Amino acid sequence: MTGGGFATSANGVEFEAKITPIVIISCIMAATGGLMFGYDVGVSGGVTSMPDFLEKFFPVVYRKVQAGTEKDSNYCKYDNQGLQLFTSSLYLAGLTATFFASYTTRTRGRRLTMLIAGVFFIIGVALNAGAQDLAMLIAGRILLGCGVGFANQAVPLFLSEIAPTRIRGGLNILFQLNITIGILFANLVNYGTAKRMGMEVIVRFGGNPALLLTVGALLVTETPNSLVERGRLDEGKAVLRRIRGTDNVEPEFADLLEASRLAKEVKHPFRNLLQRKNRPQLVIAVALQIFQQCTGINAIMFYAPVLFNTVGFGNDASLYSAVVTGAVNVLSTVVSIYSVDKVGRRFLLLEAGFQMFFSQVVIAIILGIKVTDHSTNLSKGFAILVVVMICTYVAAFAWSWGPLGWLIPSETFPLETRSAGQSVTVCVNLLFTFIIAQAFLSMLCHFKFGIFIFFSAWVLVMSFFVMFLLPETKNVPIEEMTERVWKKHWFWARFMDDHNDQVFVNGKKSNGKSNGFDPSTRL
Ligand code: BGC
Repeated sequence: MTGGGFATSANGVEFEAKITPIVIISCIMAATGGLMFGYDVGVSGGVTSMPDFLEKFFPVVYRKVQAGTEKDSNYCKYDNQGLQLFTSSLYLAGLTATFFASYTTRTRGRRLTMLIAGVFFIIGVALNAGAQDLAMLIAGRILLGCGVGFANQAVPLFLSEIAPTRIRGGLNILFQLNITIGILFANLVNYGTAKRMGMEVIVRFGGNPALLLTVGALLVTETPNSLVERGRLDEGKAVLRRIRGTDNVEPEFADLLEASRLAKEVKHPFRNLLQRKNRPQLVIAVALQIFQQCTGINAIMFYAPVLFNTVGFGNDASLYSAVVTGAVNVLSTVVSIYSVDKVGRRFLLLEAGFQMFFSQVVIAIILGIKVTDHSTNLSKGFAILVVVMICTYVAAFAWSWGPLGWLIPSETFPLETRSAGQSVTVCVNLLFTFIIAQAFLSMLCHFKFGIFIFFSAWVLVMSFFVMFLLPETKNVPIEEMTERVWKKHWFWARFMDDHNDQVFVNGKKSNGKSNGFDPSTRL
């Protein structure tokens, strides 16, 4: 399974890299870190609309749902802060944990950080499976959140660093593929459980992905970038030879050495991140996370069963629809794996922007006309149309903002700020996931069908951002982004002047050695 290939570096030197089994296997194992994240996303939606779960942990909501539609608006029956806190506690824990994870990824490596994630997951699952009351349940979710913080920090970096340049996008998206498989798996378990088993079973199933990641982390190799970053040069070179399947690794190794030399000069990674020359990557990483969550995807992912219930599907039918959405999510991610290194990141994001905007507007119109506060007269035809539009929307997300939200930040930061940059990425992602999780049921209650218009407006804004400000990173070696991407971009180049920090300190205005508008870096 080895295929030859070259990537050209900034100074024209070629990197030789075969697609070796060790790279593929390491990536598959590491990517299982996404399973647990996805599983947790999926489980929340399922259990929160499940009568026996609600009766045990949220009796107030249970009574409200049971009381039917007379007292409460269709859009408001699940509006309960405690219920939302159950879903969102995980994300709060994750965003705090990621700062610790940034330290371990930088100083102890990507592999150990993945291992820590696995251990958090195992303990979290054990706690949740035995939960007798809400406090234990939330404690378990907090530990799972710590696992998510560590895994989402280390896995995308690991994948981007270990992959040969020309298939880096595809391999990195294995992480997102696992997220989507985790969600689908949770939806299937939810569906089965709702019919036959107790809700504890759902939670226990989470033990499988947790074990997979832990064993995987024990078996994979460390990335050469991380070894070199930590001064283990000989080992780094040996690993590079092994993963690239060739002895001719000098040009790439020289790149790693140079990146690590620059990294050594940095004493405070987070402060360094704020320097002017790191502004483009930072702005893009933060913006991508906010935008990814403002597509509204998690409104669908967490609350799909609740949402389908709201628009008038029965309990069974709504879980069934959630399974369909989950399957579309997985399959469309495969489209992204296949195409991201061919058509590029920008094309996928722009096409998906159009598709998501269209489907959200159609959903808003149907719901606006057909679902009022106290009655749903969604005929079978319209109900199917809503599901089709939700699937159209999920498909677009799954080949664009889902995977690329994780891929692009993990491949654009230089080594010296990569760990800190990734931790800001994860933190902002989880913060906005938290905000959406916490606010969605209340927003649904107040905005009603307008919630889809709200998210579609965001989709419009983010598409313009991509069009003008997001450079293409397809096929660029990871340690060469500065030279080949940022310094050539029509807007971001002005931040790349080597003397900018000096100029900034002296309080003089930056002369920003901009290359002007360069269309070749834009598509
Ligand atoms: C996002 C998650 C989301 C998932 C859906 C991920 O990329 O970060 O918040 O639930 O995609 O597939």
